[in-house]
Amino acid sequence: MSPDDGGADPSARGAASRLLVVGATSGIGRAFALTAARAGHRVLAAGRRAERLDALRATHPNIETLVGDVRSDDDCAAMVGAAVERFGGLDAFVYATGTSPLGPLVDTDGDAWRAILETNVVGAAQVCRAAIPHLLTTGGRALFLSSISADDPRPYLVAYGASKAALDAMVRGWRNEHPDLCVLRVVVGPTITEFGARWDPATTAELARVRAERNLVRTAPMTAEQVADEILHVLISPVWAQDVTLVPDNTPQS
Ligand SMILES: NC(=O)c1ccc[n+]([C@@H]2O[C@H](COP(=O)([O-])OP(=O)(O)OC[C@H]3O[C@@H](n4cnc5c(N)ncnc54)[C@H](OP(=O)(O)O)[C@@H]3O)[C@@H](O)[C@H]2O)c1
Repeated sequence: MSPDDGGADPSARGAASRLLVVGATSGIGRAFALTAARAGHRVLAAGRRAERLDALRATHPNIETLVGDVRSDDDCAAMVGAAVERFGGLDAFVYATGTSPLGPLVDTDGDAWRAILETNVVGAAQVCRAAIPHLLTTGGRALFLSSISADDPRPYLVAYGASKAALDAMVRGWRNEHPDLCVLRVVVGPTITEFGARWDPATTAELARVRAERNLVRTAPMTAEQVADEILHVLISPVWAQDVTLVPDNTPQS
């Protein structure tokens, strides 16, 4: 739905909304899938870990699942195709997939760069590419998760920040090529998820030391559920939010 076409209020889609969540096995994507399902939306949850998807599907009857890897163009297309086939159409997708190793640029080899860019940018482009015809039919929405690191790549996460900067440019490009499509970008601040679960503890400690030394220490992080609530809010809002930034509330609590 375009902002000035006088069409139906998208919030009126309510329980009828058919959503694809890519990267739904943990963290923000998983929390969003659950939040959306509980709010009455139908959700196709996708990711690589089948056992996680099985467990998620068991939590709510509105959740269906598909195993897939966004580094495969065919899998990206299959995720969209499965949502359309199972739900009879697609009203929105949320690209909650993301990855990054932790380490300085001098240790980041080409394989690491390629894995980050393929997961965080190329997969996002391929999911959107497959979804576009369906979203244009339904007046649907595309939502990507970016990071505050895009504008300010933090030490040890520079390739990640670069991938999010590329994602941001891609989002602007989708909007330019498809002005009738609502392309949302939610910029996320520090959130408790499994994002750093596989990071080497010694390198993580070194990162904390570097951040403290450079005054980059962050506030208490948000929960994945808090972020999920806000994502659902903007996704089904009658307003085209386009760019939203979510950061922790840092005001003193009485
Ligand atoms: N946590 C934060 O502080 C923070 C801050 C800013 C932005 N973000 C962004 O928020 C999004 C969600 O991250 P998160 O924090 O929730 O991290 P997370 O808990 O690690 O979740 C990442 C998700 O991405 C999926 N994924 C990774 N590689 C994949 C691949 N090749 N194919 C399909 N799925 C893949 C994972 O599933 P499988 O491994 O099962 O495939 C998982 O479901 C990411 O875009 C991240 O950049 C997070």
